[in-house]
Amino acid sequence: MNWRRLFSRKPGARLTPELRARIQTSFDEAARDEEHFPSTIDPRIYHVKLIHEHLGNLAGRRVLDVGCGKGRFARVFQEQEPRAELWGLDISEEMLRYVPAGIRTRAGAMTDLPFEDAFFDGAYATESLEHAVEIEKAVSEICRVVKPGGRIAIIDKNAEHWGRLHTPEWEKWFTRKELERLLRRDCREVSSRFVSYWEDVEPDGLFLAWLAVK
Ligand SMILES: C[S@@+](CC[C@H](N)C(=O)[O-])C[C@H]1O[C@@H](n2cnc3c(N)ncnc32)[C@H](O)[C@@H]1O
Repeated sequence: MNWRRLFSRKPGARLTPELRARIQTSFDEAARDEEHFPSTIDPRIYHVKLIHEHLGNLAGRRVLDVGCGKGRFARVFQEQEPRAELWGLDISEEMLRYVPAGIRTRAGAMTDLPFEDAFFDGAYATESLEHAVEIEKAVSEICRVVKPGGRIAIIDKNAEHWGRLHTPEWEKWFTRKELERLLRRDCREVSSRFVSYWEDVEPDGLFLAWLAVK
């Protein structure tokens, strides 16, 4: 029995209004912690490069950063391609205050995205889906707001390494198969791979990237 995997599964977890408020308050407070929740990221970090590579040419494209926090990924993409139309969605308005001008922001939960179907050319979520609680709903929402043929990238932590870091009680990590299965409900091409922060460093298995084409 793999106990770590067992404990990382929270079947039927619900994002009740109370839990939502708790998560929101926790991230509102965390926004002041620039060390652990930074507003910038080195563009050479592989997570950034892989997402950009998967999304492709961003010129004239409308892209959503789901659970964007302070918008550090969107900030890089906007700098790299000023003709891109970047949007950031986060449950914490305090986090959104740090998102640079030029990136459109919306406060809200990724389980109920305030956008019409197929509004975006692409979407990505980095270390945020793990906080969504209602994971199936969040994945289906991300897929819903992306156009057919649009691209989706998710980077999160591997359930097989559950216990390696301190986590709040609502957090959930995923196995490769688990998220692949959810993405396949709406996407025609789905793959996953281990990633590390630096391209030339062998991944240690903690981070996974799921890449999909709707
Ligand atoms: C660890 S931070 C990652 C932020 C950003 N993606 C990054 O990589 O810098 C997780 C973010 O997810 C947001 N979040 C948590 N639950 C959410 C939900 N249900 N819907 C939208 N955002 C959520 C938090 O407010 C927080 O900003």
